Amino acid sequence: MICCAGYPFVDGCDTTFEVDTSRIKYGSGALREIGVDARDLGMSRVMLVTDPGLVTMPFVDTVVTSLRTAGCDVAIFADARVEPTDRSFADATAFARAGNFDGYVSIGGGSAIDTAKAANLYATFPDDFDAYVNAPIGRGKAVPGALRPHIACPTTCGTGAEVTGIAIFDYLAHHAKTGIVSKRIRPTLGIIDPDVTMSLPKTVVACSGFDVLSHALESFTARPYTARAKPTSSAPRPTSQGANPFSDMACREAMRILGGNIVRAATDPSDAQARERMMFAATLAGIGFGNAGVHIPHAMSYAIAGSVRTYRAPDYPPNDAIVPHGMAVVVNAPAVFRFTAEANPVRHLEAAGLLGADIAGVDERDAGEILATRIEALMRATGMPNGTSGVGFDARDGAMLRDGALPQQRLLANAPRATGSGELEALFARALAYW
Ligand SMILES: [Fe+2]
Repeated sequence: MICCAGYPFVDGCDTTFEVDTSRIKYGSGALREIGVDARDLGMSRVMLVTDPGLVTMPFVDTVVTSLRTAGCDVAIFADARVEPTDRSFADATAFARAGNFDGYVSIGGGSAIDTAKAANLYATFPDDFDAYVNAPIGRGKAVPGALRPHIACPTTCGTGAEVTGIAIFDYLAHHAKTGIVSKRIRPTLGIIDPDVTMSLPKTVVACSGFDVLSHALESFTARPYTARAKPTSSAPRPTSQGANPFSDMACREAMRILGGNIVRAATDPSDAQARERMMFAATLAGIGFGNAGVHIPHAMSYAIAGSVRTYRAPDYPPNDAIVPHGMAVVVNAPAVFRFTAEANPVRHLEAAGLLGADIAGVDERDAGEILATRIEALMRATGMPNGTSGVGFDARDGAMLRDGALPQQRLLANAPRATGSGELEALFARALAYW
């Protein structure tokens, strides 16, 4: 027997999937309505989380004005760190505990939104920091109950953090990027106003766009939910369920939009329509990967981002060595999809077509090469680095990067092919340069 999307059912494996997402309000001008939304959710004393680069932007003032007009007290925490750490999460938590807030609003990229998720969690259910962090680095304790309402307002057309129950951070003592994953930390409402993306620099749009592309592509090619062991009656189904009919639908449309708009949005800041489309694709892909889960490119990205030496990305804070998240993901993507294609060539070929490759009359055995070549073309057209060597790594770093990615077992288990130490080392070698 097969499921409605063609996945074969397997004895002992799951036959059910769930669709969890935040409520969404989407459209030009939507941010001006946030005060009414906050009051509707019962908020009266609000912690607003943003980062130092955004706090003076007009859209933050729009949000604060709307909240105050609706009668909310607003305290601004503007120290969310781009690429947050356990230390920056702790700072936000201390602010949250001291303020006794009954609601949270976040404005920014995934970093600000994830910081608000963590502050809300630790202020509502205080515990030692390791308690809720993913095992094996943390203890992976279940969040005991509902958090305070949280309205998340993304300002990059990228992360999808407004619809996911995932908060990612650098755990400084462990030199590892890890996260907190729970449906309970998902924002209550995502307000997605594409007007905020019009002032984004080109590299920020490109990096965010490739994060979206990889969310959609990894979710679409993930191990299907019907291949994951059925959960026991006492255990919840994991957030990373694997590819399923609902995530497939969202990811297909996200990839179709990306294929036609990522180059326009990232190279022409005046192309408002392309940026608006990218924002919608980011939301769709966020819903997709929030219910399916990503796999190898994201697992590898955490080793890349966590081991950066001197690389500084254009349009990002000049004082920090940083490989932005979407860039750290996409430099691995061509190597990974050449590797995973044999698990499901039809699906990889369909993805290549959705992203704009000409797949008429091609041989399915070439699916991985066709998909990887299309990703490379989009990378070149938007000024992305040529693989990991473009962000400062060389062949001597292979073992170190492998060891950095190997602990990401939650993601690697979601890959369509078994991916252990040897496979990771080979993938890092192939990801050094593409052209
Ligand atoms: Fe991502």
